[in-house]
Amino acid sequence: MKITIVGTGYVGLVSGACLSDLGNDVLCLDVDRAKIDMLRSGKVPIYEPGLQQLVKHNVASGRLRFTTDVAEAVQFGTLQLIAVGTPPDEDGAADLRYVLEAARNIGRHMTQYKLVVDKSTVPVGTADRVRATIRAELAARHIDVPFSVVSNPEFLKEGAAVDDFMKPDRVVIGADDDRARQLMRTLYAPLQRNHERMLMMDIRSAELTKYAANAMLATRISFMNELANLAEKLGADIEQVRQGMGSDPRIGYHFLYPGCGYGGSCFPKDVQALQRTANQHDMQLKILGAVDDVNEKQKTRLMEKLTVRLGDRLEGRVFALWGLAFKPDTDDMREAPSRAVIDEILRRGGSVRAYDPVAIAEARRIYREEARVSFADSPSAALEGADALLIVTEWKEFRSPDFAGIKQRLKLPLVFDGRNLYDPKMMATAGLEYFSIGRASQWQAEPESNPMPERVQRLRSSNG
Ligand SMILES: NC(=O)c1ccc[n+]([C@@H]2O[C@H](COP(=O)([O-])OP(=O)(O)OC[C@H]3O[C@@H](n4cnc5c(N)ncnc54)[C@H](O)[C@@H]3O)[C@@H](O)[C@H]2O)c1
Repeated sequence: MKITIVGTGYVGLVSGACLSDLGNDVLCLDVDRAKIDMLRSGKVPIYEPGLQQLVKHNVASGRLRFTTDVAEAVQFGTLQLIAVGTPPDEDGAADLRYVLEAARNIGRHMTQYKLVVDKSTVPVGTADRVRATIRAELAARHIDVPFSVVSNPEFLKEGAAVDDFMKPDRVVIGADDDRARQLMRTLYAPLQRNHERMLMMDIRSAELTKYAANAMLATRISFMNELANLAEKLGADIEQVRQGMGSDPRIGYHFLYPGCGYGGSCFPKDVQALQRTANQHDMQLKILGAVDDVNEKQKTRLMEKLTVRLGDRLEGRVFALWGLAFKPDTDDMREAPSRAVIDEILRRGGSVRAYDPVAIAEARRIYREEARVSFADSPSAALEGADALLIVTEWKEFRSPDFAGIKQRLKLPLVFDGRNLYDPKMMATAGLEYFSIGRASQWQAEPESNPMPERVQRLRSSNG
């Protein structure tokens, strides 16, 4: 099939690379010339496992190309997959300006049948607006060219995007005509060999399904975060509670990890956008309001713990930070909890020395004006002489560190873990004061001026 991808970001580039790998001819369009130039020179602008090789292989085979030429892109694909961003506007609703611009361009240049596929996450009713926009452009050109619009929301996860695209749990298609349905079946047929994954539905239901799924996942996280905060007060261990809950097959283990809040380009904006959609229909989604509030608060949790231990003023203090990306296996820092932590340290006069396996380039770009944010090229280099360690992203390489080395390199043996990577007992044995989420810490209420609990002093001296 001949496919144009409109918008060559996380979703567009992964979709384009995967669809070309399945044998299709794919042309990826973007308005960002620098991005297209980079791709044409063989570089991939984002970090995503397996993507670099996939792009390289399919560019070499001639099935995957990149352009900034809108007319060429519209002319090329019978299928026009729209994968542009839908960021929040001032009141949290999805800003559809890029989607509608893509639709306008299609209407302006198309000369034969096009199947327009909304892959971006868009509010219910967007397919109708895309259709009306294309119709208006065709009317302005005084021509009538057939086209269909379908909704095909994308469910890939950053960090596992190529795998998710190639082995989707489900492919949701919202369509209202047979030609479109048939083309979508053909498009996804190579991914259906093992079993049927396609869920055909009406367009509005497909549009809502994407928001409903993300809202549900965000709800689970905020629910656990709220319970984690309660567990701390009750002297319970949320990690044990999590296992006790997750073992119920009706609940399951996924997305029940307490931490320092969710981030990324999807959950925060999609939870807000769904609330705005409800407001526009005179409804309030009370649960989602709470999900959002709890998450915003949770992003400050590590810093609250740090304040209890070190006080308010952080001038002259340096903090080692492990993890910048909003989750492991990506370099995406959009809405990342690390940013809330860094901003708060800076606001209070402290400095940050950060390490992340892949997101340092992105962090340098974000904090290019900020002299008090520096970067280390290894986790241990970030620790050298720092006042404390904060862990914000659960990269695999942080799971089993050299605890003695951490203690040796830090000025104070303080570890604030926003991802519950370690066993508190083991940390105590290693002579590290350990603050995590939802697990009572005997040191939590000890301000710096207070004497160390006797047991900690003993542990410390036995650890040199
Ligand atoms: N990132 C994810 O994990 C993910 C997962 C599922 C769904 N989504 C949804 O997919 C959509 C895209 O997300 P993303 O993370 O890939 O965004 P992104 O910001 O990485 O990429 C969007 C790209 O579209 C380009 N663009 C904007 N207007 C354009 C136009 N008129 N013509 C051509 N290109 C244009 C931008 O320059 C940018 O490169 C969003 O609606 C998002 O909610 C994202």
